[in-house]
Amino acid sequence: MAHAPLLAAPAFTPLAQEARAGLAGGGQKSLPCKYLYDEAGTLLFEAICALPEYGLSHADQRLLQAHAAEIAAGCGPRTAVVELGSGSARKTRPLLEALAARQATVYIPIEISPQAIEHSRRGLEGITGLQFRPLEAEYREGLAAVAELRRAGRLGAERLLVLFLGSTLGNFAPPQATEFLRSLRRDLRPGDRMLLGVDLAKPARQLRLAYDDPAGVTAAFNLNLLARLNREMGTDFNLRQWRHQVKCDRRGRWVEMHLRARRAQTVRVPGLPRPVSFRRGETIWTESSHKFARKAIAPLLAGAGFRPLRQWADTLWPFAETLAQAE
Ligand code: TRP
Repeated sequence: MAHAPLLAAPAFTPLAQEARAGLAGGGQKSLPCKYLYDEAGTLLFEAICALPEYGLSHADQRLLQAHAAEIAAGCGPRTAVVELGSGSARKTRPLLEALAARQATVYIPIEISPQAIEHSRRGLEGITGLQFRPLEAEYREGLAAVAELRRAGRLGAERLLVLFLGSTLGNFAPPQATEFLRSLRRDLRPGDRMLLGVDLAKPARQLRLAYDDPAGVTAAFNLNLLARLNREMGTDFNLRQWRHQVKCDRRGRWVEMHLRARRAQTVRVPGLPRPVSFRRGETIWTESSHKFARKAIAPLLAGAGFRPLRQWADTLWPFAETLAQAE
């Protein structure tokens, strides 16, 4: 008997289930930020990183470039580099070059976006001594898998250097940020290292521009999430009826990204018994980005079982890179 083709069930994928959970109910609607990074979203985010207004990725890159040799020199022999959310890995390249020049180096980007993995593969071509072993996974599952490989002696490395750059830690609410660092620590061994790049508090005006650039790249990135739901789960969001909105704390310590309904409307959400109604001006919260006080980073790491070793800050854009060691 011929096999019937597998029926696609777009209303029952994890994306559809999580989107439904965020859109149903009466309170603040929300969508998980990890779904921003489909193929279009990955490219749009790379474009954001190239914008002059989005100073944080430029600062991250400058610091990594300037201190790559020192960070590499501090890594013991047989160190594997694990990066949580590598994107195109453009900013990681100098560090990997410095490490691979000293020793054979395994590089494991952990990414939910297969397109980002492909971009990083191409971006890192030509580094001799670098072994590229990507993992398409979420951060925690990915790091747990790496820890398991090491335990089984199948990693080809004894030590780990975990890179957590781009201020992704700031996308967790503060209590979850500590919890997340602790959970990473549980998969590490004493002596493993982590390089944490976080954005620092800065004038609200500067933050607003970074997350709402005049050319509208960030707006397109955020709106693409609704386009993705239309494509992948069959919602019928009319993108013309939504706009990107940034809410920013006056003291420059956090920004929130929302999608705001331009008018009252209803949206069909497959799997929900009735369409979801939105009031005019109602928002869907898609992501928050918390900014740090430089002084707060070392205690945060210490509270999660890491001993801070070195810290560097950028002079043009308040951003800090902290190297720490698992205790
Ligand atoms: N991790 C990025 C940050 O917090 C993500 C990001 C940048 C983002 N611009 C955005 C998320 C706009 C949603 C909307 O800086």
